[in-house]
Amino acid sequence: MTETLQSLALSIIELATFIFVFIFLAAIVWLIWAYISDIRQKKQAIRRNFPVIGRFRYFFEHLGEFFRQYFFAMDREELPFNRADRSWVYRSAKNVDNTVAFGSTRNISAAGEILFLNCPFPTLEADAVPPSAITFGEGQARQPYTTSSFFNISGMSYGAISKPAVQALSQGAAKAGIWMNTGEGGLSPFHLEGGADIVFQIGTAKYGVRDDQGQLSESRLRSVAAHEAVKMFEIKLSQGAKPGKGGILPAAKVTQEIADIRGIPVGHASISPNGHPEIKSVDDLLNMVHRVREITGKPTGFKFVLGAYGFLETMLKSIHERGLEFAPDFITIDSADGGTGAAPQSLIDYVGLPIKESLPLVVDKLIEYGLRDRIKVICSGKLITPASVAWALCTGADAIVSARGFMFSLGCIQALQCNKNTCPTGITTHDPDLQNGLDPTNKAERVAQYAQKMVHEVGVIAHSCGVREPRELRRYHAHIVGDNSFSTSLELLFPTRSVKPEYDKRK
Ligand SMILES: Cc1cc2nc3c(=O)[nH]c(=O)nc-3n(C[C@H](O)[C@H](O)[C@H](O)COP(=O)(O)O)c2cc1C
Ligand code: SF4
Repeated sequence: MTETLQSLALSIIELATFIFVFIFLAAIVWLIWAYISDIRQKKQAIRRNFPVIGRFRYFFEHLGEFFRQYFFAMDREELPFNRADRSWVYRSAKNVDNTVAFGSTRNISAAGEILFLNCPFPTLEADAVPPSAITFGEGQARQPYTTSSFFNISGMSYGAISKPAVQALSQGAAKAGIWMNTGEGGLSPFHLEGGADIVFQIGTAKYGVRDDQGQLSESRLRSVAAHEAVKMFEIKLSQGAKPGKGGILPAAKVTQEIADIRGIPVGHASISPNGHPEIKSVDDLLNMVHRVREITGKPTGFKFVLGAYGFLETMLKSIHERGLEFAPDFITIDSADGGTGAAPQSLIDYVGLPIKESLPLVVDKLIEYGLRDRIKVICSGKLITPASVAWALCTGADAIVSARGFMFSLGCIQALQCNKNTCPTGITTHDPDLQNGLDPTNKAERVAQYAQKMVHEVGVIAHSCGVREPRELRRYHAHIVGDNSFSTSLELLFPTRSVKPEYDKRK
């Protein structure tokens, strides 16, 4: 009996040992399989850069759907971008279903929220039309630029973002028929390789179009303008995240390639000035716009974040005094809460006006001075979802540009490490191992799908409001919720101005 019990115990121990060894070996085989398949796949940068471990992110993300409501931030709470908005971008970029169930998780009574006024008789599909075209530089530039695209890629320099990120954006922009702004780092071959329309940005350091002394080089400007793909030039005065501060490119990042593209010495940190040395007044700015347009023959405008706004009237009066050939063809208004690769917290948190205030202000001033048709308005600042883009069109923007929306479409997980060269998704790093995770061909598809879905869904809002296409949206189509939780028409908050009699050409 005792012997039988002993042999039974031994058999159980042997079986347990066998099961343990089997599970252990199976786990090793799975680990090897997972590692190989992760590094070979090209769809998910996180898995490619962090084989095996990266899989847990998706597992926890999945569990988070069930548990975050008890332990973590709600869908609408995170900053700079909440999960609900990011998810919309992710799902659109992946071209998966982005309908939601049961009811809105958005508090529609919170101050500042937008509500659109649907029409009792929405626009039928048969009556809808594609977005209308607009022309930049009409009557002034030798080569005006016409496009029907109203959602485009905002400036992010090659340097701030990686080579595969630039390649994916360029290819994706071409597929979607939208333009891509170079940012202040000059024009690289990677911007051109997709065949998209390009807006070349002239930053304060004039990267890509500077002479040895850092001044604007007319010959270099001409050679940039000679590219058929380069459609417009944007003089950057400031950006929302860091008004009055130039960028810093550390010496380690100034590789031979980047040095050649920017026109700076290799291996030396490059610090752009906090403003253009030759632009110190309204007239200097208008002179520069005129000069760049004369040299390039292409529409020229400027980008800034609005702070002190008195200068706008001075500028618009000066345009009337000096002539329309001094007017910018467009103004890009960035929001105080715009993004960047790196900025001092005091500037990123406290300086400049948000786009919800600056956009109506600039549009109204242009109307008052009879220049609304002549000068197109582009805007940016967390406009990454259809509702925010539709709001901008209602308010009076001609086009919207986004940087971070397109970063999300590239796979950005808002890890907030863009200034550390450790971006886990390969977007803002020059580490080749991390860049390896970002497959440009795959991500280009996502960039295009995000842009296309945006156009489609802004159209859905427009049709619900009873207009035929997004550019027909007006202020009276939107309400903004006030402190008392009741909403007021955008039209009442910012009444549409009329042209001042002295600037009214009809009189
Ligand atoms: C990584 C990164 C790099 C940027 N580089 C530039 C730049 O070179 N020039 C510029 O004018 N703005 C730059 N920006 C600002 C964006 O173009 C844009 O104005 C701002 O982020 C607001 O748009 P968003 O809210 O859609 O990101 C950069 C933003 C990011 C996130
Ligand atoms: S993943 Fe993080 S570090 Fe990379 S671009 Fe997005 S926010 Fe920046």
